[in-house]
Amino acid sequence: MATAVMVPVVVTSASADDTAVSGPDKAAEPRIVGGGKASVSQYPYAVFLADRSGNQYCGAVIVSSTTIATAAHCAVAVKKNDVRVVAGREDKRTRDGVELRVSKVWVSPDYSGDPGKGDDIAVMTVSGQLPYRPAKVADNGNADLYEEGTKATVLGWGRVADGGARSDYLRSAVVPVVSDKTCRTAYSGYDPSDMVCAGYPEGGVDACQGDSGGPLMVGDTLIGIVSFGEGCAKAGKPGVYTRVSHFSNEISQQNGRKLIG
Ligand code: ARG
Repeated sequence: MATAVMVPVVVTSASADDTAVSGPDKAAEPRIVGGGKASVSQYPYAVFLADRSGNQYCGAVIVSSTTIATAAHCAVAVKKNDVRVVAGREDKRTRDGVELRVSKVWVSPDYSGDPGKGDDIAVMTVSGQLPYRPAKVADNGNADLYEEGTKATVLGWGRVADGGARSDYLRSAVVPVVSDKTCRTAYSGYDPSDMVCAGYPEGGVDACQGDSGGPLMVGDTLIGIVSFGEGCAKAGKPGVYTRVSHFSNEISQQNGRKLIG
């Protein structure tokens, strides 16, 4: 089977081939579809976090040569000294790319401990340099990228089906940005100031467990960080992402600036 370059994928590919179109295809497969393998050469900023034993537990995204953005709930899950940032490794079973330790962790001071309450964002500074192209970070001038229907790409090594196994490979999927009104209907705690939703009304394509902290991209611009969802790829329950533009100043402040204390 030929590998298509723009394969939408992600977290779910119940369908056996990678030639799926960018929408769900329920007729072909009643479970999660629409995802497929992705390459780190196309998405060099897509990285994952591993613990001391080398187990991938979250995604993350390179935002400068020394910093990565991830979810706050990922940053607090593992002690700083035990975190490894793995970049340039498409297949978890290989030793490709680089593994860097973390020298500093910034967690949004407003993060409550519950992703459902928002502010689910953190920035880690690595020891050494990340030899891969960073993503651009959306800021307040990028309101257009958050308009309903904008096709965004989510990337990760997480589960390929609700309750299913995690992927060995990086996967990507295309999901449309959902309006604040629709997302509010799906999640009563939705806060449009610091969250954004993406997914199809009928479900079928989504991020899932293990994808948290990973990027939601429009072109080369990071607009969201995988945060939470009810199940995965369920109808009426889009994925919820941290709205990166709300945190663009704090993200850039972590780059090259030493915080005191
Ligand atoms: N909280 C999950 C994680 O830690 C991510 C869940 C995303 N769920 C979704 N349906 N989009 O990996």
